[in-house]
Amino acid sequence: MELPKQISNIVFLVSVFASLPRTTRGQPIVLGSDPKGKTFLYTNGNSVFIRNIDDPSICDVYTEHSTTVLCAKYSPSGFYIASGDQHGKVRIWDTINKEHLLKNEFQPFGGCIKDLAWTADNQRIIVGGEGKEKFGHVFSADAGNSVGEIVGMTKAINSVDFKSNRPFRAITGSEDNAVSFFEGPPFKWKTTMSDHEKFVHVVRYSPDGEKFASGAADGRVLIYDGKTGEKQSELGSPAHTGSIYGLCWDPTSHFILTASGDKTAKIWDVSKGSLLENFAMGSDLKDQQVGCLWQGNHIITISLSGYINYLDRSKPDVPRRVVKGHNKSVTAMTIFGVSGNQNPAANKYIYSASHDGVVIRWNENGTDTELVDGECHTNQVQSFSSNSRRVVSCGLDDTVRYINVRTNSYERTEKLSSQPRDICISETDVVFCVASNMIYMIQDEGTMVTHKLNYEATSVAVHPHGTELAIGGKDNKTHVYMIDGTALTEIRIFEHHDYIVKVTYSPQGNYFASADNMKNVKCYKLPEYQEISRDMWRYHAGTITSLQFSLDGKKLASTGIDTHLMLYLPENVSKVTQVKGAHQLNPVTCSAWLTNDTLFTGGNDCCLKKWSVR
Ligand SMILES: *[C@@H]1O[C@H](CO)[C@@H](O)[C@H](O)[C@H]1NC(C)=O
Ligand SMILES: *[C@@H]1O[C@H](CO)[C@@H](O)[C@H](O)[C@H]1NC(C)=O
Ligand SMILES: *[C@@H]1O[C@H](CO)[C@@H](O)[C@H](O)[C@H]1NC(C)=O
Ligand SMILES: *[C@@H]1O[C@H](CO)[C@@H](O)[C@H](O)[C@H]1NC(C)=O
Ligand SMILES: *[C@@H]1O[C@H](CO)[C@@H](O)[C@H](O)[C@H]1NC(C)=O
Repeated sequence: MELPKQISNIVFLVSVFASLPRTTRGQPIVLGSDPKGKTFLYTNGNSVFIRNIDDPSICDVYTEHSTTVLCAKYSPSGFYIASGDQHGKVRIWDTINKEHLLKNEFQPFGGCIKDLAWTADNQRIIVGGEGKEKFGHVFSADAGNSVGEIVGMTKAINSVDFKSNRPFRAITGSEDNAVSFFEGPPFKWKTTMSDHEKFVHVVRYSPDGEKFASGAADGRVLIYDGKTGEKQSELGSPAHTGSIYGLCWDPTSHFILTASGDKTAKIWDVSKGSLLENFAMGSDLKDQQVGCLWQGNHIITISLSGYINYLDRSKPDVPRRVVKGHNKSVTAMTIFGVSGNQNPAANKYIYSASHDGVVIRWNENGTDTELVDGECHTNQVQSFSSNSRRVVSCGLDDTVRYINVRTNSYERTEKLSSQPRDICISETDVVFCVASNMIYMIQDEGTMVTHKLNYEATSVAVHPHGTELAIGGKDNKTHVYMIDGTALTEIRIFEHHDYIVKVTYSPQGNYFASADNMKNVKCYKLPEYQEISRDMWRYHAGTITSLQFSLDGKKLASTGIDTHLMLYLPENVSKVTQVKGAHQLNPVTCSAWLTNDTLFTGGNDCCLKKWSVR
């Protein structure tokens, strides 16, 4: 296990529940391989993920690109990673220290960089992509000066590679259906092979440099002589019935792994030209295979769903492990198994949703990841809530849905007549959902009572004893109601200077807190709702997105689109801990406490982060 990263004397980052690679239909995913064999690399948004290959729940994230990063590769020495982004910037950074100090930044052209490779001596880098007047460049990793010319193609380069030994050679695969071959340094165009009939998505040299292979949208895999570029053979006829997006040699240079849009991955014996293994990955569009990696004993493919599949040669139809997660911004979360008088040893699950409505269930250390299926939301999940028996959510598809925690699937749907904003569930299984100027009360047996409000509601929270309900409004007021059966009687109103964005009770019911659109957080002591925060909690620079008390009620966390996480102590209002850039460069959208001292946050970086708060 890696040690938690210290943020301050009080806050530690325990782990990152990483996002999946960001997949796009019809586009290959580039994976980076670690020369030391410990980790592998991929990108999503402006982050590069460095994931432990044996235990993918261990993950480091690099978030210094100011725009979408599309590829990242280790230098053969393992000391550096070069990553290329959509504006043509290549950052070369240190892998040894945790801060990942920047060594160099170059911009070989203005346009996206889709793939890059290092020479075996760590001296030179080739990049390919789609610049304004050029599609590739080769330059020195130390000074950035050009060490050749990558020309000859007329359309975007999708893939580049170097021969791993002398004499040096470089290859590119491009969208003019061409594979180009270069000698150097300085690298000069030598030949172009036009055997493919569609986009060439991937070109890769064998580790021993004897051969190289190309894979294309025509489903064909061609093998060439590594020194001369002469075409030697073809694998299959064709290798796949769909586009080939990924191709990787095994460490012995004898075998090739291919990943295809025909929803299979295959292993080939290169010298015999024979198919050794066929991995059928499913029948859904999302089971298309868009990238692959063969590192040590690990054979990995990426599905269009973003899932990371660890293949098992002895059981080709069942991956040994499938790593799931989000590949879109996280919008909402809750933790099941922490409320009420639960057995502390019982399983706790984190449920999180992304803006396309995908819901993932994680165990508390991120080693077990499952998709929640069944009657799922068809649009963004707006809010989650859970009690000791149930998990409920409301979404922009105008529904409230219930997850059966035993079967891990959505099993009950309640249709609403307006768009919901927030949801909460009491320990007596009554669901309260606010939508525009309505509050819906849904009983466990299925009856739904609606009350009209004379203001627009933004947020809702129920007292843990189920006796009081707080609703935040666009009328700049917090309304507190007494709950009596299905009747609500307004008992208190708090005036604010702007509309309310969040309301919450502490699990013991001894505190209440609210946040308004001017970024003020207020905390009240119950039963009198005496305000104790004295207008001192105004720390955020952007809209507050979540407000949650720790399980013992001794800490309050708020998150915001300003990327920050703030921690307040109701017992000492002057002591506020600020975690700026909690999800670096990305809005933090939700949070939930696992224990008295452990908090999860979710963000637009498609990740969850686990924090320890002393
Ligand atoms: C990842 O992205 C693809 C393409 O947009 C989408 O179909 C898929 O549902 C996403 N996967 C997850 C787990 O969110
Ligand atoms: C992770 O959690 C699982 C089950 O909750 C447990 O079996 C496993 O030992 C945990 N692993 C670590 C590294 O804490
Ligand atoms: C709420 O506060 C905002 C910002 O101060 C103000 O513009 C608006 O008029 C107020 N609305 C009401 C109903 O008082
Ligand atoms: C959480 O805090 C409460 C109150 O301080 C304490 O009684 C309880 O033992 C704590 N729980 C854990 C797991 O530390
Ligand atoms: C409250 O926090 C402040 C600032 O950290 C500290 O100086 C003070 O001693 C604390 N007060 C109590 C009563 O703990």
